Amino acid sequence: MNDEVRRAADILRRGGLVAFPTETVYGLGADACNASAVARLYSVKRRPADHPVIVHFASPELAFAWGREIPDAAKALARKFWPGPLTLILKRSDKAKDFVTGRQDAVGVRVPAHRVANKMLELFGGGVAAPSANRFGEVSPTTAAHVRADLGADVDLVLEGGPTDVGIESTIVDVSGPAPMLLRPGHVSKQDLESVIGKLRERSGDAPRHSGGLERHYAPRTPARLMPTHELDREIARLKDKVAVLAFSRPDERVEFWLRMPRDAQSYAKKLYASLRELDRAGCAAILIEAPPAEPEWAAVRDRLERACG
Ligand code: TXA
Ligand code: MG
Repeated sequence: MNDEVRRAADILRRGGLVAFPTETVYGLGADACNASAVARLYSVKRRPADHPVIVHFASPELAFAWGREIPDAAKALARKFWPGPLTLILKRSDKAKDFVTGRQDAVGVRVPAHRVANKMLELFGGGVAAPSANRFGEVSPTTAAHVRADLGADVDLVLEGGPTDVGIESTIVDVSGPAPMLLRPGHVSKQDLESVIGKLRERSGDAPRHSGGLERHYAPRTPARLMPTHELDREIARLKDKVAVLAFSRPDERVEFWLRMPRDAQSYAKKLYASLRELDRAGCAAILIEAPPAEPEWAAVRDRLERACG
């Protein structure tokens, strides 16, 4: 592992692109100080240039150097959840250039928790700009094989780190405004956050731009629909086309392709993106997804499913 990780740090230093595992999803990394490396990152990702990107660091000290006027809430969250699946949006310092912030006055920073990512970040020493290592708008990769299938020869190196643990993207909290605001739900839940910093502000119109906030995102190519259990049963009873189903219950033999999902939210999240990819490959006319329970621990999964269904 160590030789590959050293190679990765060298490639980053020379302005190349490295896909690497984190505990959430695989990221596509570039030196966050190198304008042309980040430009290439955006073009491989096919991402609009005005979308900001998260910068990854080996330690909270390095991460906070990219921000200014760091509020106590940010420090408290970092102490509790870093390294880990949490991104903080901070007012930026002069280290964070327009090409990583999408010209906003705020920067997204994160200290991941994955031995391969942390080793690479430590050897590299600086900030690594990394969106999820998929093309814009598609399902995020949770294995190195997903990355190779999506980006192939467009990256200089794909670091292997096994299937990711969390399976969905980091929780994003904006601490650059008057009060902390949840921008993207994730493994670190609203309840987890509020237990550290108290009540979060509701999302509002002045929230910074972020692509995870676009309506249709994390989406398979096959049209997907989210529905409650009774509607799924009804839909199956009157099927005409071949469909693929993602559900909690046992397969129904009238359905062409069926994936059964775990009943706890964390195991579900871990399997979600690989499952969506599999359903997509089944070549059916539609994907039908059984809606998960309304409980708070399912908030992040529900968010991703709603986006997958546009
Ligand atoms: O788990 C993750 O966060 C993964 C891994 C690789 O770390 N990364 C990831 O990056 O999901 P990406 O680019 O696919 O999604 C990052 C989200 C986007 O919605 C982006 O717009 C938002 O974070 N974001 C980044 N910087 C921001 C900023 N300065 N202000 C507001 N939103 C920001
Ligand atoms: Mg993404």
